Amino acid sequence: MARVNEHYRNLAANYLFPEIGRRVAAFAEANPGAELIRLGIGDVTLPLAPAVLRALHEAVDEMGSAQGFRGYGPENGYDFLIEAILEHDYGTRGIATRADEVFVSDGSKQDAANIQEIFGADCSLLLSDPVYPVYIDSNVMAGRAGALGPDGRHAKVHYQPATEANGFAPDPPEQRADLAYLCSPNNPTGSVLDHARLARWVNWARANDATLIFDAAYDAFIQDPALPRSIYEIPGARECAIEMRSFSKRAGFTGLRCAYTVIPAECTGSTSTGERVPLRELFRRRHATKFNGVPYIVQRAAAAVFSAEGRKQCALQVAHYMENARCLREGLATAGFKVFAGEHAPYLWVRTPGGLGSWEFFERLLAEARVVSTPGVGFGPAGEGYVRISAFNSRENVDEALRRITRAFSTGAA
Ligand code: MLT
Repeated sequence: MARVNEHYRNLAANYLFPEIGRRVAAFAEANPGAELIRLGIGDVTLPLAPAVLRALHEAVDEMGSAQGFRGYGPENGYDFLIEAILEHDYGTRGIATRADEVFVSDGSKQDAANIQEIFGADCSLLLSDPVYPVYIDSNVMAGRAGALGPDGRHAKVHYQPATEANGFAPDPPEQRADLAYLCSPNNPTGSVLDHARLARWVNWARANDATLIFDAAYDAFIQDPALPRSIYEIPGARECAIEMRSFSKRAGFTGLRCAYTVIPAECTGSTSTGERVPLRELFRRRHATKFNGVPYIVQRAAAAVFSAEGRKQCALQVAHYMENARCLREGLATAGFKVFAGEHAPYLWVRTPGGLGSWEFFERLLAEARVVSTPGVGFGPAGEGYVRISAFNSRENVDEALRRITRAFSTGAA
């Protein structure tokens, strides 16, 4: 009989978003005709930008001609996309990154889950709480996290609580760890790291010979040009940090799927005998075995995000979502809620009224306002007492959600 990977038994019972989907489907079935407004999962709602759509159509046509047809592509990405990434995501901010440090993939979720494979099973792990569930689940599956305790935490993980007191952006701890995940702008709390905070993490990583896994999937939502968009804006980061970026939220690719990971040549880990090994080479090897590249047509669409038109059109999409975030922030505050973040991220972190638990308030929002949110505790125990509200929707739905929430909860809100 094939033995199963028993580490899976240390996972929380369900992945957060399918669990929300299950509860919402049950509600919809019990309340036929109820018009729900979905501010739960961070999924984009605007159609593809015209420049992106045109590139996609053209690439489809190319694939239909003998000269333009392409089969397997380079597994790390086509040069035309990697060059555009280097020029626009890095060059414009004065960051020197090389083509052979970029790995194009089909999503940051996958990258965030896959990257841990190149590290030893006994690496110690540092995560914030609350946290994007992929960071923890992928390490649980690999056996690195230990048993799940009754407090919702895994025995072998060091957690840094992200709280109101630290602005939901904890500083590095005194103790060391081998691997630390950072996400800025943060999913779920919407907080953002400035240069000083990010530099403290880079210094901590260098002092402790740790690797930072920096998830910048939401960098396009940063409104203040002075804030760092890439960890490589911090001196020394090339030696200790891996960075992930995505086209999902900034250009509406949640359905198309395209993202990339950067691993600088200087970024190394060590063997048990102390030999230094470039992490980039391990990931390249992994990619070559397990991945056959993102479809040509999707990479052409991603490259169009960087064209003059594409940049303008995608910036308008981001501006639309950020205006939603502003309306939600102000509207919820007016209704009496304690609202955090949402200035540089498409997510608001909202304290539940009257000390309600996260799931309890999720259920009440659903039943009384017909609005879907994400319970904060689903991202970790320190998220208890909060819900995350996503700004990905139409303005009409955001306004209607605010009206309904205000009607149902404006008295008695904390
Ligand atoms: C979220 O809602 O947290 C995100 O949409 C999940 C993801 O990007 O995988």
